Amino acid sequence: PSLSMHAHDGLLFEDVPLARVAAEHGTPTWVYSAGTLRRRFRALRAALDGAGLRAGIHYAAKANDSQAVLRVLRGEGAGADIVSAGELRATMAAGIPAAETVFSGVGKTADEIRFALGHGIYQLNAESAEEIAMISAAAVALGVRAPVSLRVNPDVDARTHAKITTGKADNKFGIPFEDAAALYAHMAALPGIRPIGIATHIGSQITDGMSAFRAAYARLAELVGALREQGLPVERIDCGGGLGIPYRDEPAPTPEALAGAIKATLGHLGLPVMLEPGRWLVGPAGVLLASVVLQKQGAARRFLVLDAAMNDLIRPAMYEAWHGILPVSPVAHVAPLSPADVVGPVCESGDTFAKGRALPILSPGECVAFLDAGAYGAVMSSTYNARPLAAEVMVDGHRCAVIRPRQTHEDLLAHQRLPEWLTA
Ligand code: LLP
Repeated sequence: PSLSMHAHDGLLFEDVPLARVAAEHGTPTWVYSAGTLRRRFRALRAALDGAGLRAGIHYAAKANDSQAVLRVLRGEGAGADIVSAGELRATMAAGIPAAETVFSGVGKTADEIRFALGHGIYQLNAESAEEIAMISAAAVALGVRAPVSLRVNPDVDARTHAKITTGKADNKFGIPFEDAAALYAHMAALPGIRPIGIATHIGSQITDGMSAFRAAYARLAELVGALREQGLPVERIDCGGGLGIPYRDEPAPTPEALAGAIKATLGHLGLPVMLEPGRWLVGPAGVLLASVVLQKQGAARRFLVLDAAMNDLIRPAMYEAWHGILPVSPVAHVAPLSPADVVGPVCESGDTFAKGRALPILSPGECVAFLDAGAYGAVMSSTYNARPLAAEVMVDGHRCAVIRPRQTHEDLLAHQRLPEWLTA
């Protein structure tokens, strides 16, 4: 809905022609729609409220940690889910208090734990007995009690890409389900810890219905029952993130379905819940704009070589992810289509965005937009092949502003140092 085709201006993001963004800011450029962010946040909020859940939405900043994106979501009332001190700095800088922020992750360092506790973090999701000991020690040294939820690994198959499955027994995440109750009791006995609940996160880009979520949440409910029987306090349940989006023709799970699954499995406990969504909120709110460098005919295939590459958007190379690719110009949308391999200029065959994609013949300088690139796009980019990080732009109605200028070649060199023995 926020992307539309205009007969004269071509592809618009909100009211802003993407051709104009490319002309003014160059390519490759990430473009985010503030309106889409707001709309999606409100839809999620409405679904949770509609199911009668008391639910906190803690946006998973890893999906897109741009200050402008964080601020728009904060404006809608989002808390945060973070996985590093760097993300906590970013979310606090955007006005999200640590008191509304969850710290997830399997390898928080002692420094990061102290940093988070020092700022009054809302909740630490602990993933091991070893980490619980670290948190307790840090809290005692600071004279506080750390609010800790136990991240449980429910051993369910989220049926998503293997690299983003997190809730199977052989994944590195969480506490084995069988150990959770004993460890929770152990936490309650530690001087530095206030056990406040349990958490789970079974994977990302889950589009295969609600059965995996339901199975995981049912196990959490079972665990809460066991903890209550032991007289242990449970204040809230963190349901994680993972709600998928349709990149191609996957069935789109709705926030209403997720809210319904939570209500059905956890509702009887009468506890507040939390969600940690990343992709669902920001994925469809971003595109990556790229220009055609040239088109070449290989022995067997047509190659469309773009100025964007795997260093910008790594998802196709890393997860065989499918992203829609739309030409920006209005004429391109009525031209005949033929299969093309869409590739970047990086010196690896893996630098392929799409194979055999039906696209018109495009001339050098024409633009295309990669759709649904707002989540795990810019945050995963690198400067491989000494390619400066792409610019980032936000649109809001008819407004358009640079939120991160394109890196320069000078920037790439600026932070390097030479050992003195090479400078003589
Ligand atoms: N909470 C925890 C503890 C997580 O590990 C994650 C994502 C989330 C929440 C947010 O999940 P979401 O709602 O976005 O599915 N780079 C991959 C995705 C990695 C997700 C890692 N964890 C990709 O591009 O598909």
